[in-house]
Amino acid sequence: MNTLVIGGNGFIGSHLVDRLLSEGHVVHVFDRQSELYRKPLEGVIYHIQDFGNRSILSEALNNIDIVFHLISTTVPKTSNYDPIFDVMSNVVETIFLFEQCVERKIKKTVFVSSGGAVYGTPTAVPVSEDSPLNPESSYGISKLTIEKYLELFHRLYGLEYVIVRPSNPYGERQNYEGNQGVIAVFMGKIAKNQAIDIWGDGSSIKDYVYITDLIDGIYKAAFSNTKHRVFNIGSGAGHSINDVLKLLTQIIEKKILVNYKPQEAFDVSKIYLDITRARRELGWEPQISLDAGLSRTWEFINLQLLENKVYIS
Ligand SMILES: NC(=O)c1ccc[n+]([C@@H]2O[C@H](COP(=O)([O-])OP(=O)(O)OC[C@H]3O[C@@H](n4cnc5c(N)ncnc54)[C@H](O)[C@@H]3O)[C@@H](O)[C@H]2O)c1
Repeated sequence: MNTLVIGGNGFIGSHLVDRLLSEGHVVHVFDRQSELYRKPLEGVIYHIQDFGNRSILSEALNNIDIVFHLISTTVPKTSNYDPIFDVMSNVVETIFLFEQCVERKIKKTVFVSSGGAVYGTPTAVPVSEDSPLNPESSYGISKLTIEKYLELFHRLYGLEYVIVRPSNPYGERQNYEGNQGVIAVFMGKIAKNQAIDIWGDGSSIKDYVYITDLIDGIYKAAFSNTKHRVFNIGSGAGHSINDVLKLLTQIIEKKILVNYKPQEAFDVSKIYLDITRARRELGWEPQISLDAGLSRTWEFINLQLLENKVYIS
């Protein structure tokens, strides 16, 4: 199939591109920058532009069968700084994308939403896809709004879609100098002998899913004919920051310096996902344990720092 991965040079996108290539698909990538940790890949057709460039975006959709939408111009924390920017750059431009998908009769549109943000603070865990949706950041509100537009475009125009709600992915090629992904950020700092910041007392519980498990879920959701259109993809288990810290201490074998800071308002303090639907309907199952995934990620970050390999244009 001809596939377009919008945001394909980011952390999750780059792994999705690998999977699509390995399954024999034609892969186009739309992104405003190249991958951070790899040179452009042979066989991938790149469209390097901003998501707001509508004419290049619609050109990139020529002859595409499946669109994967992974761009987010914000993360939960930054989205609250400027909600107008968040809505304009994410929601409005995504509606333009969906209009184009309808016009071009795209066979399926896959949207990567957020299992950590659309539910808000859950009343009970694990959180299933049918749990109340009460996002607590502009990022979460935008993700949910985009989900609602997919529903609307399906009803109005028959747009075929599937939504994946990932928990907290981690693994190789997550930006360890970025502002999303606590594991990568912690490891980047530890590798450089810097103190890590923990917001709150470390008891906050999240669902950490290893990147290849998430990609397998996205891939299966995209290529299966399923009754449902929304899938949580996570590990299905909750781990506190203190649990992660304990595992890191065992894996890294060096003293970890910690600064405890006040809990931040955009952060949900206890959430992990119910992954029964993906297990049942997609035949999907997470394969990589947290300690195995942490070891792989640590190895990657050390190699990067050692070789000082960063490719950014
Ligand atoms: N990483 C997480 O913890 C997490 C969790 C749940 C959901 N998600 C969602 O998954 C998707 C991918 O996340 P990721 O971790 O790979 O992020 P990422 O930042 O690594 O990748 C996003 C990519 O989008 C591109 N991009 C951003 N704004 C753009 C713009 N205006 N024009 C063109 N390209 C633009 C970036 O260049 C980057 O390559 C996002 O939608 C994110 O909200 C991420």
